Amino acid sequence: MEKTRAHSGLEGIVVADTTLSEVDGERGRLIIAGEDVERLAGSVRFEEVCAKLWGQADVARRLGQARQEAFALLPKLRGALEATDGMDALRGAVAQLTARGGPDDGPWVTGAMAVFAAAWARRLRGLDPVAPRPDAGHAEDYLRMATGSGDVTLLGPRLDAYLVAVSDHGMNASTFAARVVASTGSDAVSAVTAAVGALKGPLHGGAPGPVLDMLDAIQAADAAASWLGAELDAGRRIMGMGHRIYRVRDPRAAVLEKQIELYERQAASPSPRLQLARAVERAAESLLKQRHPDRALRANVEFYTAVLLEAVGLSRTQFSPTFAVGRVAGWFAHVEEQRRTGRLIRPASRYIGPLPVK
Ligand code: COA
Repeated sequence: MEKTRAHSGLEGIVVADTTLSEVDGERGRLIIAGEDVERLAGSVRFEEVCAKLWGQADVARRLGQARQEAFALLPKLRGALEATDGMDALRGAVAQLTARGGPDDGPWVTGAMAVFAAAWARRLRGLDPVAPRPDAGHAEDYLRMATGSGDVTLLGPRLDAYLVAVSDHGMNASTFAARVVASTGSDAVSAVTAAVGALKGPLHGGAPGPVLDMLDAIQAADAAASWLGAELDAGRRIMGMGHRIYRVRDPRAAVLEKQIELYERQAASPSPRLQLARAVERAAESLLKQRHPDRALRANVEFYTAVLLEAVGLSRTQFSPTFAVGRVAGWFAHVEEQRRTGRLIRPASRYIGPLPVK
């Protein structure tokens, strides 16, 4: 192939055939393991989506066992889990796992991710980790371990819907990172470690914390337009807005918004955050439309992730690690799919440096 130009962001370059998920950016449709995300999130548990993505049975039990085994490893992982940043902690802790090989790695890394993310958050607050309950649902158990809350019956299902909604999303940056590592014949733990590193970045999974910072700074709906305008004038991006693929609103934004509404109805307390978030979204959308008339920049998944995860009792430092707790399901499925192709991912670069002097 002639090296005429570099595809620096690889937009539109198809690097794999997949049965795992499909992102239709024009229509705003996300299919995960053959189902629309709207049908899955809120009605199917995270374990069931893992089972579909991995093609495995008995996943709930295996995840519970993995959480228990990972909990036993925590004393050895103290150094990694002392990191101030949750994604640094996860990267360091996951990297120390030993891959088991083949299908066993899915439950193993997924169970461990939840235990590590929860233990890190507790340690940050100077608290001991909470032991897992292997017979509990994965989302509920993560929430209980992460918040120390005894009763997660109301909030657990909302977090479960979030984990399902983010479980897989086409060839996103962290999934691609995982597939590149898997394509070399390396193991699933190495692939997931690389994926955690990719997810950390604010252009990928690091946005929901800053979304909440933004809502805090704006405070009231009528201040949104001027605050956002000043950000854009200063050349900064509005977090939670825009997407590489979607040219309409990210369907996951609506899925998560619905979960927040559901929680409000159950708790019988309207959240001022949700009202503010909606006003900020409207203002951001209209300002971005004025400044980028040719490029639709609408709310992405991170926008309402911030509001939902805050509502379930997680702090903003826990948002990105919680994203990893859900997305690890997809990472592992892609690792297995990539491995089956047996094909090394090895693109080319175009050399534009100096030539040797003769
Ligand atoms: N706020 C302000 N401007 C934005 C923007 C945002 N959130 N997202 C994109 N733009 C602007 C860019 O500055 C660029 O403007 P220019 O053509 O004048 O330089 C234009 O829109 C196209 O952006 P581009 O960088 O080509 O888009 P991308 O496909 O590479 O970026 C994101 C996609 C997600 C990285 C980008 O929209 C973004 O940074 N969003 C904020 C971070 C975020 O929410 N991340 C979570 C993603 S799920």
